Amino acid sequence: GKTKGIAVLDLPGHVVFPGLIDMHTHLREPGYEYKETIATGSAAAAGGGFTAVACMPNTNPVNDNRSVTEYILRRAGEANLVHVYPVAAITTGSQGKSLAEFWDLKEAGAVAISDDGRPVMDGALMRRALEYAHSLSLPVIAHCEDLSLSAGGAMHEGLAATELGLPGIPAAAEEVMVSRDLLLAEYTRTAVHIAHVSTAGAVRLIRDAKARGVRVTAETAPHYFTLTDEALRDYDVNAKVNPPLRERTDVEAVREGLRDGTIDAIASDHAPHAATDKEVEFEYAASGMIGLETSLALSLRLVTDGVLSLAELAAKMSTRPAEILGVTGGTLVPGAPADLTVIDLKRSWTVNRAELRSRSRNTPFHGWELTGKAVLTMKGGVITHSDLPETGVA
Ligand code: DOR
Ligand code: ZN
Repeated sequence: GKTKGIAVLDLPGHVVFPGLIDMHTHLREPGYEYKETIATGSAAAAGGGFTAVACMPNTNPVNDNRSVTEYILRRAGEANLVHVYPVAAITTGSQGKSLAEFWDLKEAGAVAISDDGRPVMDGALMRRALEYAHSLSLPVIAHCEDLSLSAGGAMHEGLAATELGLPGIPAAAEEVMVSRDLLLAEYTRTAVHIAHVSTAGAVRLIRDAKARGVRVTAETAPHYFTLTDEALRDYDVNAKVNPPLRERTDVEAVREGLRDGTIDAIASDHAPHAATDKEVEFEYAASGMIGLETSLALSLRLVTDGVLSLAELAAKMSTRPAEILGVTGGTLVPGAPADLTVIDLKRSWTVNRAELRSRSRNTPFHGWELTGKAVLTMKGGVITHSDLPETGVA
């Protein structure tokens, strides 16, 4: 109905979340438009219930200078479906050799820095990055991977890898770097955000660090609390991701980390790749899976399973990401921007990779029956996605 020219929606049986904020997305533009563009990625985000995404800098060229940051923001404005928050590189070209111009990047609109896709292997450089970023209040997002330990690996090092005859990536490749970054954050009294936590050891390290007052926040992605390395049994390249899918005990630890607050946020790590990137020998296939259109429904399973309440899920997918990145949104208090997501908790649907809005198709969840769907996404009071046939809102 309408009240004084304002649309009023009556949606019994639905819940309203503050607009979902994905703090870890790969939009691929500039440079890899055949995988995703800012326009197609924005459509996938809105369709998945997101009103904002933070996009990682591993484009071509890398987002290590203000002209790339400004280009991303311009393209995002043209698509005009979600807030796009550029994450800029820590090091020039994400090559791990020299620091990028953080001040310039921040001024251009970068909300955080990360060399995501690669770690900063040089500890002294990471220390200086933490200190310099801290002085500018720029969050640092750490992709934790010791390249000497992960080298040559194609999946998690464990029983499944042994039986499949594939080279492994040990949990320690992640945990060694989580340890280093926690120690550096503690020593320099700066903050660090740990990306895509996947192992029990990483959860324990972050929990212990938080307990002694280290300024650490952390995220995980739906695949790390949903799938194990068993998903690789039929050599499904769509389940190849970095860090790799781990073991049952890791999945349980990630869920416990979400439950007890060790892990602050759920991010998609939406990583689109084209068939040509994936349809090669397993060891050479690109790592990553798309996630913007499945994240919410997979995360709602945590509520069904009693791991999180609905309010806690809203915090992990909206409020905490806004706080960590220092961006608007994440709340429904009066006066806040009308960024919101209406969720039909009962709606069952089947993931069909042919129907996704993303330009890429690399999901291991094709054919999965999921329950719960964003049926309305609103950004700044404007409807950016609607799947509400019964009300005719389009
Ligand atoms: O699986 C991944 N894909 N992990 C990363 O860290 C990077 C990402 C990508 O850019 O494809
Ligand atoms: Zn990463």
